[in-house]
This record gives sequence, C-alpha cells and structure tokens, in this order.
Amino acid sequence: MSGVDLAKAVGYQQEDKPVAWNQRDLLVYAVGIGAKKDDFSLVNELDKAWAPFPTYPVVLGFKGTTQDVVDFRQLMAGGKLTPGLPKLNPDRVVHASQSIEILKPLPAVSGPGWKLKKRNTGVTENKTGLLVEEETILVDPQGTPYAKLYSAAFNLGARPTGTNFSKRIAGPPQAKPVPKDRKPDWVIRDQTTPEQAVLYRLSGDYNMLHIDPSIGQASGFGGVILHGLATYGFAARALVSAIGGNDPRSLRFYAVRFTAPVKPGDALETSVWEVGPGPDGTTEVTFVTKNVTTGKVCLGAGVAYIKKLEKGKL
Ligand SMILES: *[C@@H]1O[C@H](CO)[C@@H](O)[C@H](O)[C@H]1NC(C)=O
Ligand SMILES: *[C@@H]1O[C@H](CO)[C@@H](O)[C@H](O)[C@H]1NC(C)=O
Ligand SMILES: *[C@@H]1O[C@H](CO)[C@@H](O)[C@H](O)[C@H]1NC(C)=O
Repeated sequence: MSGVDLAKAVGYQQEDKPVAWNQRDLLVYAVGIGAKKDDFSLVNELDKAWAPFPTYPVVLGFKGTTQDVVDFRQLMAGGKLTPGLPKLNPDRVVHASQSIEILKPLPAVSGPGWKLKKRNTGVTENKTGLLVEEETILVDPQGTPYAKLYSAAFNLGARPTGTNFSKRIAGPPQAKPVPKDRKPDWVIRDQTTPEQAVLYRLSGDYNMLHIDPSIGQASGFGGVILHGLATYGFAARALVSAIGGNDPRSLRFYAVRFTAPVKPGDALETSVWEVGPGPDGTTEVTFVTKNVTTGKVCLGAGVAYIKKLEKGKL
C-alpha cells in the first residue's frame, strides 16, 4: 500500500486537543459509571469527601471543550491520519485496552487552557489485524501533567504489510497473573441498568452503537452494547469502594484489557487479588470483571495501584 510505513507512525506527535470540564460533568460521569445515591464521595459535590472520580479523563478525547452533544460521525471523519499508517476502517475498530495513571488530583472545574497531548507509541501487525497504541497526557495551562493514559485499538482485518511488524516505544505496567492457588481477596457485584449506555454517552461518546439497537444488530452484537469505558468505570468504582474506603483519591493507576461486550442491564462481578505493594505506599492488585450470568470475562488483565483504607481510620 502506498504511503504505508509503520515504523514512521511510531513516535508521531499529534496536534494538541483543547479540553475542559466543570463539576456538573464530573457528576454526570459518576452516574454514567453507575455511582449510587449513597456514594456521596462521587455524587454529592457538597459532601466533605467528594472528589472528581480519577478515571474521568478517559472521556475528554471525545468531549473536547464542548458542553453540548458531540457529532460522533463528524468527529471520526475529521480525524487526522497518522503519517505511515494506512486508512483504517472505523467500523472495524475495537478498543483493546486502556490505562490511566493519576499524577495529580483533578480540579473540580478545569477553566480554559487545558489540553491532551497525544502521540503514537506502538504499532503491531499480526494475522488478524493491526494494533495501534497511543499515549495521552492531560496537561494544565502551564503544561503540568495531571494524568497519563495509554490506549490500544485493534483494527480487525487490517493487514497493510502482510508481515509481523511490531514496534513499541512506551506503555503501561502489565498485570501480574491471577493467583491460581487462592480465592480473590475481594469480590464486588454490581448491576448496570437498562439505561446505563443512555447515561454514559452524556459524558461525550455519542457513538450510535450505544443507543440505536439496529446498529448493534448489524454488527452481530444483537442490540445495544454498553460503552467499554462505562464498564471500565464500574470496575474502578468497585476497587475504590472495596479497597479505598470509597475515597476517589485512593486510586493512582488503573488498567484493563477489553475482552467481551457488556449489555446495558447486565450484572457485573469484579474479583480482585492483592499481589504486592505498589509504588508510593499503594497496594498492587490484579483483577478480572465478569458478566455474572454468563460467567464471561469482559475486563481482563486488570491491574491497579490503590491506597488501602487503613482499618480504624474511619
Ligand atoms: C493479534 O493481536 C491482537 C491484539 O494484540 C490479539 O488480540 C490477537 O490475539 C492477535 N492474533 C494473533 C493471531 O496473534
Ligand atoms: C507471523 O507470526 C505467525 C505466528 O507467530 C507465524 O505463523 C507467521 O509465519 C508469521 N508471518 C510472517 C510473515 O513472518
Ligand atoms: C450477560 O449475561 C446475560 C444473562 O445471561 C445475557 O443476557 C447477556 O447477553 C450477557 N451479556 C453479554 C454481552 O454476553
């Protein structure tokens, strides 16, 4: 294919994307990821324990600075091509993995001048498609980084060179394996509602797949599926509530692989194993999240560094 040079894509720095949010956006996100009426540290901005939920920056790539609905088709069509990559089919892309490292607590209101700095950090081709990895850093108007994210998207069927090309220059820490010899240290069950995707999209991802059942039917999902990043938020809440005393500031690093779709209304079960100390006084955990009824794993290779609530401190 002409213009294809996978090595050239790796390291490519994209144009900065301005972003902004307010406290209301943070509250809308919290209910999008299933926060309940009693989770005051997530949903009641007047509570002393309230803080922005730390995974919030994952929505900013879609949201940008707008306070209104994002035209998803236009956003996709307007995406700039990365030099060296082939033109990729937006209908055959699946979100493969997502991580976030919290470097500084987010303010409740951004104000102007914040942006996402994005670069390509990896391209891997195999028999079934092309994996494209990106690093995104959220910076304030002075350029101070607040969060560092890695995401990977798998482009099914993309075989631009027909080789096993692979180059990666950065990436997040990987999960330790689930211990085979012991039960999980925490098991957290939660219920998504039939309206979960309708709520989650209000944070910026207005992909029609998550509201129009005919699109999911055509793609073989049998109807609407929940945003992968909504399930991502559900599992983050599970860790924060079970391990971090429901203090949003307890979570410092959090990563998963997306392994199967979830439908709005499915019940989720997150199983968590403590696997060692993490950096800066945190605890490292490995986790998986399943659809309770089918037993199918929807989030795999989960890893987090989280500050454990010390007993007797409440
Ligand atoms: C190709 O890469 C993807 C993404 O890393 C992976 O899920 C898939 O199993 C790989 N396929 C083969 C045939 O190695
Ligand atoms: C790519 O890797 C697969 C699996 O390791 C191997 O079977 C195949 O021959 C390789 N293809 C090329 C073109 O090297
Ligand atoms: C999860 O389990 C429920 C209950 O069996 C099932 O209806 C649903 O289709 C499953 N979700 C997915 C995405 O497989």
